[in-house]
Amino acid sequence: MKVDPIKYSEAGTFEDTRFEKIHNVVFNDSVEASIIVAHEISNLIKLKALQNKNCVLGLATGSSPIDVYEELVRLHKEEGLSFKNVITFNLDEYYPMSKENTQSYWYFMHEHLFDHVDILPENINIPDGTVDKDYVHQFCIDYELKIKDAGGLDFQLLGIGRTGHIGFNEPGSHYNSGTRNITLDHITRVDAAPAFLGIENVPRVAITMGISTIRRARRIVLLAWGINKAEVVKKAIEGEITSEIPSSYLQTHNNITFVLDESASQDLTRIKTPWLVKPCNWTEASTIKASVWLSELKQKSILKLTDSDYNNNGMSNLLIDHGSAYNLNIKIFNKLQHTITGWPGGKPKADDTNRPERKKPAKKRVIIFSPHPDDDVISMGGTFDRLVEQGHDVHIAYQTSGNIAVSDKEAMKFAEVALLLNGDGSNAQKIIEDINNKNKFDLDTIEVRNLKGLIRRKESIASTRYLGVPDENVHFLDLPFYETGKPKKNKLSEQDFKIMNDLISSIKPHQIYAAGDLADPHGTHKVCLDALFGSLSELKKEEYMNDCWVWLYRGAWHEWDTHEIDMAVPMSPDQVKKKRQAIFYHQSQKDGVLFQGDDSREFWMRAEDRNKVTAKKYNDLGLADYEALEAFKRYYF
Ligand code: F6R
Repeated sequence: MKVDPIKYSEAGTFEDTRFEKIHNVVFNDSVEASIIVAHEISNLIKLKALQNKNCVLGLATGSSPIDVYEELVRLHKEEGLSFKNVITFNLDEYYPMSKENTQSYWYFMHEHLFDHVDILPENINIPDGTVDKDYVHQFCIDYELKIKDAGGLDFQLLGIGRTGHIGFNEPGSHYNSGTRNITLDHITRVDAAPAFLGIENVPRVAITMGISTIRRARRIVLLAWGINKAEVVKKAIEGEITSEIPSSYLQTHNNITFVLDESASQDLTRIKTPWLVKPCNWTEASTIKASVWLSELKQKSILKLTDSDYNNNGMSNLLIDHGSAYNLNIKIFNKLQHTITGWPGGKPKADDTNRPERKKPAKKRVIIFSPHPDDDVISMGGTFDRLVEQGHDVHIAYQTSGNIAVSDKEAMKFAEVALLLNGDGSNAQKIIEDINNKNKFDLDTIEVRNLKGLIRRKESIASTRYLGVPDENVHFLDLPFYETGKPKKNKLSEQDFKIMNDLISSIKPHQIYAAGDLADPHGTHKVCLDALFGSLSELKKEEYMNDCWVWLYRGAWHEWDTHEIDMAVPMSPDQVKKKRQAIFYHQSQKDGVLFQGDDSREFWMRAEDRNKVTAKKYNDLGLADYEALEAFKRYYF
């Protein structure tokens, strides 16, 4: 295996990586990783320029490479990196697709890179989504020849799809495939649906470079960020080579690096179950993780695990530290038991030594941050209800307006009612006309967006009133980063942080709850979390923040792993129903919503199933049998 030319820290010893067939490096943060990759590309461009040669780059689109392109643009603008000797070939393009369409990869590449650097337009190559159907085959042959004539790809940048695709080489693609047109996998279309405002608008076909086109590149770097990629990253790196996971073909390349963030790497054996790789240095966290894993593996409750269960699964040195399975089991059982509380704001007058929350002050000021207007009840409706019932001063802060997730049909319904009330000539009439005149990919007018935002506000108020929160405790932050009117959002700015800071400093909370989703770095939940983290690091010098604990819940798609949970709040069957009702008030998000994801169940169903699964997992570990549990992880800042 050739070692990459730039300064990635090495992945570890052979022992660490013995399950892995592709060199990979894990970074804490995707931005830091992207900058390093951009510097590798920049060094290559400069080296080639010194040699009076062209630098031939294969480029990817999607959310993964955005920060790499941003750094390349910065290097061009601030450090004089020239792209005059660069020839690019993009991996793929939807078909059919016009260049002007904001969803086209042509548009993406110009928006993120080409419009901001000095690349010669004739050196840019992107599969053409406008060629005549009868000409596509010839176009693909010519594309291959053009890469060859340019001297082949010096460097190929890749992302990875949840299907395991690279480029648009979906499962079933051949090892020796070349540039061609391909039918997109359903999962790929689901993942693209938000950008296209609905799966029905996502093209079914694309033109893509083939596996063999990609493999011929002299150097390959694949980027993967976020928990959504963890499963497929493991399959590509550790699994057998199979056409089912086309990225596994990369195992045969001799100069490749997968660049991962922590979430995307979390299923790799050396990270998920390091005790299976080599003897571990045990910490409290890894001990809990290992015992929970063992209990799930053996399908036994914690208290029934035996010495040989531990010994046979790479944990013999753990037993040496603890004396016996019996001692260890009791410690772990108690630890897990202590995460359960019906008093998420702390139980007044009780001994709180082993409780997740402090008893004092008995009445806490609480802020629940909700990225969209409904995550509060979907993700923690039961805990929310308990906090209010137990007398805490609960504030809800909706970070974004969520306006793009309201369908035109829903908005029309409200506009028509408003028209009946207000008559012709009113704003309502204009909104109706705007919706009627809208073409498929047009952005909403400001009036339509406002109405959509208002619908979500009023649904939220109905829901918070139902849970007993006074209206003045409900805050709509409408963070500006979100207000682009399209799926692609702006970066966080000072304005966003100021809004967050102002709210936190006016309430001086003892508890903050927030969505701890670490999926796509450009996803709204992650950006909202970054907004909170930014505020926390700015405000932590304030004295009142010493008394503030932060609890992270997970959004509609994932739950914390059992070993990660610091607080588990049980719900009775009646509380489950109450939570369901609170979710129902968000009517614009029911029945075939715009941003469904690949799970066709409605949000309330997903939430209930998830909370039941958590309860079942606790029960399987030998803990009490609850109807449902909501889970939180404490964040220390
Ligand atoms: C893009 C491409 C795709 C993406 C992959 C990941 O040109 O060919 O393979 O790299 O679908 O997409 P993101 O980065 O959006 O998760």
